[in-house]
Amino acid sequence: MLNIALFGPPGSGKGTQSKKLLEKYHLVYISTGDILREQIAQQTALGLQAKQLIDKGHLVPDELVVKLLEEKMDNNPKADGFLFDGFPRTFEQAGILEDLLSKRNMSLSGMISLEVPEKELTERLLQRAKTQGRSDDTKEVIEARFKEYASKTMPVIDFYKGLNKYHPINGVGTLDEIFARIQQVIDNL
Ligand code: AP5
Ligand code: MG
Repeated sequence: MLNIALFGPPGSGKGTQSKKLLEKYHLVYISTGDILREQIAQQTALGLQAKQLIDKGHLVPDELVVKLLEEKMDNNPKADGFLFDGFPRTFEQAGILEDLLSKRNMSLSGMISLEVPEKELTERLLQRAKTQGRSDDTKEVIEARFKEYASKTMPVIDFYKGLNKYHPINGVGTLDEIFARIQQVIDNL
């Protein structure tokens, strides 16, 4: 069974590479960002709460995100494995994910971290803003997301280093080049 966490700063290509991974591996995809945007679109109470934070570039509280994640896992009891995009994003979430998986007799196979310089991330996100209109893709909010990533999310790296599950890869290049690097990591897990 393969359980992968695709990790990286805003704009590093988590969503893009997830699509390619799902074409190749039979995994259930859990993107907490996508799930939160669905909640916002449906105007649920949780979605309204999340929107306030997402539009400022802040993380949503762990308990809200974990609730949504657990729901999605429970809705897929027969999954051959999961692909997590954008989760875990705090040290606490990393510990929670270990527990959620072990309760289901699973474990994370590896955390793959896409490394991209901030200048390129900003260019990608501002470019995406022109076509996709995500409310958090403005210059100001992108900067806030980077700050949140540096202070709250980077500690997740140490969590997985401690478990020997941290696999950094160069996230700059063509989509196929990056996908080949990811595949190489997965083949060696
Ligand atoms: P989330 O939706 O996860 O956003 P993010 O982490 O900021 O990342 P993005 O989705 O913007 O980028 P990506 O890495 O997926 O890159 P993509 O493939 O799109 O989270 C949004 C918000 O929700 C958070 O800020 C937070 O508030 C909340 N949230 C979510 N999860 C949470 C959690 N666990 N806990 C608490 N809060 C949470 O690529 C970006 C662009 O670059 C695209 O246009 C793409 O076409 C392009 N691109 C991709 N690859 C390349 C390449 N190799 N070369 C050139 N361009 C490329
Ligand atoms: Mg994404």
